[in-house]
Amino acid sequence: MRKIKVLTVFGTRPEAIKMAPVVKRLNENENIEHKLCVTAQHREMLDQVLDVFKISPDYDLNIFKSGQTLSDITTKSLQGLENVIKDFKPDILLVQGDTTTVFAGALAGFYNGVKIGHIEAGLRSGDLYSPYPEEANRKLTGILTSFHFAPTEQSRENLIKEGYDDRKIYITGNTAIDALLEVVTDDYKFENELLNNLDYDGKKIILVTSHRRENIGKPMENIFSAIKEIVEKNSDVEVVFPIHLNPKVREIANNILKGNDRIHLIDPLDYLPFANLQKRCYFIVTDSGGIQEEAPTLGKPVLVVRKETERPEGIEAGTAKLLGLEKENIFKEIDLLINDKDEYNKMANAVNPYGDGTAAQKIVNIIVESSK
Ligand code: UD1
Ligand code: UDP
Repeated sequence: MRKIKVLTVFGTRPEAIKMAPVVKRLNENENIEHKLCVTAQHREMLDQVLDVFKISPDYDLNIFKSGQTLSDITTKSLQGLENVIKDFKPDILLVQGDTTTVFAGALAGFYNGVKIGHIEAGLRSGDLYSPYPEEANRKLTGILTSFHFAPTEQSRENLIKEGYDDRKIYITGNTAIDALLEVVTDDYKFENELLNNLDYDGKKIILVTSHRRENIGKPMENIFSAIKEIVEKNSDVEVVFPIHLNPKVREIANNILKGNDRIHLIDPLDYLPFANLQKRCYFIVTDSGGIQEEAPTLGKPVLVVRKETERPEGIEAGTAKLLGLEKENIFKEIDLLINDKDEYNKMANAVNPYGDGTAAQKIVNIIVESSK
């Protein structure tokens, strides 16, 4: 059998993490000729992940520009990818998730007659403007897709409701879990002395992240002000916040949170320390998508500072809670989880609604089987 030519495309930190297990399986498979193209929509944050998983791209479009607009990302990726597709002539182009790289990747494939496989297909918040522009990116990508790799039954149902053909939908679990299970260990030692020296047993260490575009401005001010007041009220609490490199996020975070010795504002962490910090901390406050998938697997309550979520599985399992974006409610719910042990125990269950660590292998098997 002629080898199936697969081009994987990604551009940001979370895509790289979730694609790393897929890249490994594709490279190992004797029926597949695989090449990887990174758009480098992220630069440092992408390279952090490539280093951890020892991945070297075959093509690097290097499109990153600080302050890039959605149009910058889309047009540069689209043009760069056309050249890559002409050079490699793939049968299948794989994208993962909901970033603008994903949409541009799918569109480039579609324009050049390449079949699209969409990993993490079918997530829906139901609001086109939140998360923005990710909800639109998912829907636009879905329309162009031949293989929908849905992580859960719920994501499959979302696609069916939109009229997609069930025969093109494959429930695989989420590759985030494949990556996570590879890197979290009980005896992990941080290189960063601050993280090594935190009193994980004596103190309540809260891990915070926030970066969503639609939260920049007042919502983010509400989140950070609530966190500041929480630390001022609870002397047994310390916060670790690895701040995303977006200067707008950094400015708001520094303005509100700087200057308290129990709030540690640090640069984005490599995936290994970050995953292990999730495992070590007391609970997590975040607007991230991927962290909502990882925390339940690690038995960590996750408080989601957003209006909605396209990841309802964690909420239904009781390990995640949606707080909205009003400061009073964010404060109230974080304070409750710190001070009410029953509430904490109810949420701190290791459940894993997102997969069993075999998603990448399933995806590669499906690609091989369907090409026979
Ligand atoms: C992007 C994705 C979002 C995903 C997030 C993961 C889009 C529209 N958004 O959002 O879905 O959740 O990545 O983190 O695709 N920056 C750097 N260095 C980096 C990365 C970012 O300096 O390595 C700064 C730059 O100033 C850049 C800004 O962050 O302009 C925003 O980056 P961008 O990729 O446009 O959007 P994110 O908010 O990171
Ligand atoms: N992550 C990381 N270092 C950090 C913060 C997050 O490695 O400092 C990882 C995290 O474990 C998860 C992914 O990055 O796998 C989530 O990325 P992000 O929140 O930027 O994007 P989203 O998932 O919201 O698209």
